[in-house]
Amino acid sequence: MTAQDIRRKYLEFFKQHGHTVIPSASLVPENDPTVLFTTAGMHPLVPYLLGQTHPGGKRLVNFQKSLRTDDIDEVGDSVHNTFFEMLGNWSLGDYWKDDSIKWSYEFLTGKKWLGLDTAKLAVSVFTGDAAAPRDEESAKIWKSLGIGDQRIAYLGKKDNWWGPPGVTGPCGPDTEMFFWTGTGDGPENFQETHDDPLWVEVWNNVFMEYDKQADGRFLPLKQRNVDTGMGLERMTAVMEGKQTIYDTELFLPILEKIRSLAKKRDERSERIVADHLKAATFIIADGVVPSNKDRGYILRRLIRRAVRYGQFLGIEQEFCTEVAAVVIHHFESVYPELRRHEEKIVDELAREDLKFRKTLTKGLKEFEKMGQIDGKKAFDLFQTYGFPWELTEELAEARGQRVNREQFEQEFEKHQALSRTSSAGRFKGGLADSSMETTRLHTTHHLLLKALQVVLGPDVKQRGSNITAKRLRIDFSYAMKLTDEQKQEMERIVNEKIGEDLPVIRSMMPKLEAERLGAEHEFGQKYPDQVSVYSIGPKGATLQNPQFEKAFSIEFCGGPHVEHTGQIGGKFKITKEEAVAAGIRRIKGIVD
Ligand code: SER
Repeated sequence: MTAQDIRRKYLEFFKQHGHTVIPSASLVPENDPTVLFTTAGMHPLVPYLLGQTHPGGKRLVNFQKSLRTDDIDEVGDSVHNTFFEMLGNWSLGDYWKDDSIKWSYEFLTGKKWLGLDTAKLAVSVFTGDAAAPRDEESAKIWKSLGIGDQRIAYLGKKDNWWGPPGVTGPCGPDTEMFFWTGTGDGPENFQETHDDPLWVEVWNNVFMEYDKQADGRFLPLKQRNVDTGMGLERMTAVMEGKQTIYDTELFLPILEKIRSLAKKRDERSERIVADHLKAATFIIADGVVPSNKDRGYILRRLIRRAVRYGQFLGIEQEFCTEVAAVVIHHFESVYPELRRHEEKIVDELAREDLKFRKTLTKGLKEFEKMGQIDGKKAFDLFQTYGFPWELTEELAEARGQRVNREQFEQEFEKHQALSRTSSAGRFKGGLADSSMETTRLHTTHHLLLKALQVVLGPDVKQRGSNITAKRLRIDFSYAMKLTDEQKQEMERIVNEKIGEDLPVIRSMMPKLEAERLGAEHEFGQKYPDQVSVYSIGPKGATLQNPQFEKAFSIEFCGGPHVEHTGQIGGKFKITKEEAVAAGIRRIKGIVD
């Protein structure tokens, strides 16, 4: 069974059970600063998990592009990769554990669907803690379907809990499904053997019923949701009977291309190049370009790692675009944006590849000048010129030198600890979390931006924002200090709109359409082709008839927001107004 069969069957199965198919969202989360990339299917759906009405209804199914780079240095073994596809079905306050588990079981084992051998299945459920009880309900449903007691493991938060995506927000216990990929039916007792890598986790059903608060409490969510995630790469490996995800059709054509360009074989390097260039191709298609900051930096790192591991394989010429061509060809039927942005992908990859090759050449010269190479020097070469350990080791060996790997690793760890600290402080913009308090201030922020334009003129643009549960902050282009009258007028307008209890509506539309409507967007932000837009007012506007022309405010935004401005539930007050840079002013405000 091919990956495409799995995607198709998955959508078909859940369509039969009343789900609406929704497209994969962009890898660049819309207006969400808590993560750089979409890391799971739940991410683009957070506003709906919190209770907003989704245009597709209460049952959704999709496959979602996702990227996780936390383990980038582990890529190349048999299980790690950065870009992956996640199949998911969603209940937004609709069905619960019973249907969710039964459907998963039917899809995994039904002859018409994946037809997996039930004797090789095992599941885990949440063992319970102070915040949430032991999930006997899920265990009981699994038993009713024929899963034996021994094949049900009760595990803690580390294994059987998902979310929230940031510090606060929707989360809950999950139940995970595992398939035995060794010989025979696998060990009888799953509790004792669940760590064995031959048990491959194939699906995760999250029962999202809690809303984690900033103070660490878990309160019930407004609605109980189900969020399931099946990693397509792993499932394909299972269905094709392959030992690793890299042996599946989702990677093989890319690896074959790399091998045809390489002068020597090295499995780990080949996999790194394949994974990284596949990820880079998808990332560029979603509008990111290489740079030294945030998303652009991660993209740059992926391309550069690919180039240097390519060099290690003996590929001396620019080659990223050739690999990208295979990725585009192989995935365009599912992700047409790849072909649409082919030119951009080719341009960016070729440029970055060539630029980095020059750095590498300089690094080689530097290497020639170095005497005995120790672990620290090896790390300097890695850090400044991007030399992989293997390259330095090989070059040193050719000179008859041995390099101390432990020392290299120590330097590496020191550096990682440092870069973790700096990246933790990097994302100061946007929403701190998705708590109700922050959400109320987020909607207030939209009202304030419009009020700024009403009072100061339509040329005033947002230049930054930061919203926590306690206060909002907006940076905007304006040259002068505001007068008390201006500030009072802004407060009056915002409070008037809160008092009018206007509907807040989310719509999805092409970027061009949103621009045509004059939707506000932040200067310098990148947006995908299909964007989410929030409009506030007029009274009587609905999802079906949003009446954009009469809206008070309309902005490019991924949410979350309240549904009616009345839910802001208080009086808006400006607490501070100051200059932050030439021509940029900042307002801080609260709702009391
Ligand atoms: N959010 C869960 C996961 O990523 C289920 O989709 O595993």
